[in-house]
Amino acid sequence: MSTFLVVDDDLASCRALRLHFRSQGHEARIAHNAAEGLAVRDEFVPDMIILDVRMPGRSGLDALPDFKRAFPGTHVLIVTAFHDMESTIQAMSRGADDYIQKPIDLDELDAAVAKAMRYADDESRDGLVVFPEAPGHNPDNMAGHSRVMQDVFKTIGLAASSRATVLITGESGTGKELVARAIHRAGPNSSGPFVAVNCAALVESLLESDMFGHEKGAFTGAVVRHIGKFAMANHGTMFLDEVSQLSRTIQGKLLRVLQEKEFVPLGAQETQTTDARFIAATNVDLSGCVRDGSFREDLYYRLQVISVCLPPLRDRKEDIPDLVQTLLARINREMRRHVWRVDRQVLRCFQAYDWPGNVRELENVLMRAVALCRADVITCDLLSDKMCSAPARLRTFVEPQAQWRLRDVEKVHVLRVLESTGWHRGRACEILGISRPRLRRIIRQYGIAVPAGAAEEPDGREDDSQEP
Ligand SMILES: Nc1ncnc2c1ncn2[C@@H]1O[C@H](COP(=O)(O)OP(=O)(O)OP(=O)(O)O)[C@@H](O)[C@H]1O
Ligand SMILES: [Mg+2]
Repeated sequence: MSTFLVVDDDLASCRALRLHFRSQGHEARIAHNAAEGLAVRDEFVPDMIILDVRMPGRSGLDALPDFKRAFPGTHVLIVTAFHDMESTIQAMSRGADDYIQKPIDLDELDAAVAKAMRYADDESRDGLVVFPEAPGHNPDNMAGHSRVMQDVFKTIGLAASSRATVLITGESGTGKELVARAIHRAGPNSSGPFVAVNCAALVESLLESDMFGHEKGAFTGAVVRHIGKFAMANHGTMFLDEVSQLSRTIQGKLLRVLQEKEFVPLGAQETQTTDARFIAATNVDLSGCVRDGSFREDLYYRLQVISVCLPPLRDRKEDIPDLVQTLLARINREMRRHVWRVDRQVLRCFQAYDWPGNVRELENVLMRAVALCRADVITCDLLSDKMCSAPARLRTFVEPQAQWRLRDVEKVHVLRVLESTGWHRGRACEILGISRPRLRRIIRQYGIAVPAGAAEEPDGREDDSQEP
């Protein structure tokens, strides 16, 4: 059995295709425009996409590159009533497998499907996805085509051209240091050094001398003069990682460096100046630290002249194929390997997994898989059990039928959203545009079975009897 995704605004055509595929024992899902089709990505990966060209919103041709990115290894068949050479060329050059005319001749369709699938069998046995090696592609670049990452790249570009202080926030492993380096590389100080200091790594006194430097004899054990990182970063970039961990004393001194571009090494008489550009990163909510008094408010505002917020990987899973390609390029280079083939089921597991460790976790998973894989193919047996079991949660939902009651549609949709978010109620409410109490009531009212391990925290049980 294969799974098909039909993306077409013409209802009759969709229905006819679904009947046709089902009669052959396949499963077919319907989407009526490009955005709906792309959204399917969170639920399942089709073997083949039948994509119409003229649709309200984005045309199939425009959206084709996004479909290829969202579903790497899935075949795309373009169909259109408006047949011309120009669009055929465009479709094929953008990665379509074939191009057929409407009204669809079912024999022609079957032949095109068989051809694409056979090609798949020869080219990449058993649903392997072959990532292009992309010569000239720099593995140190940041990957990601999602809208949020495009925004991040834009901010990096804007930030780089100024010398303003930047605050980068994001969960651990989302790429904060990579962003800091990218800003440095693209900025006017790129020929100068990039100096990083981890504000959490050292005890306060050591950290202070590490940052500011010290004179010989400044304290017991200061047997030689030590150049601090602020001095080293002169004409370059100073990266303050985990900045929330700084003590109040050092926060005060840092504020002065930022304001006056001056500092005094421990035990020194003279002030020194630095024209380093400052970039700070944190994985905790710094405004919360300001509220609870552990972080100075004036320093907070001084740091976040420009802010870059990196979303967790689970909120931009459309970046996973891109990331896999970039990370494989890097890992292959480091390990002197040539692993470019990945079982499609592995990508399904990646899409379904929650990635608490973000991109770093993905990198580690791939590194381990590359180290252990035979025949240069990454297969599911190289992943941990917790990652492989995730797709079991995903099921293929039935399309609403014309004879369904509204409440049936609501129930199925709420369930679908809950499952696609891994029963994360906050995110589900955001998507559905409803309040927590309302979601709770729907779950109760429709008797939706809550899976083990997804029970709601008891403190979330506020009285919702008044809620509309
Ligand atoms: N968009 C991306 N493209 C390619 N590689 C990425 C991307 N984002 C992160 N990485 C890689 O993931 C790893 C973790 O990134 P990085 O160290 O920058 O994260 P971080 O946010 O600083 O994490 P922490 O808070 O734990 O210090 C690095 O190896 C980095 O190269
Ligand atoms: Mg870091």
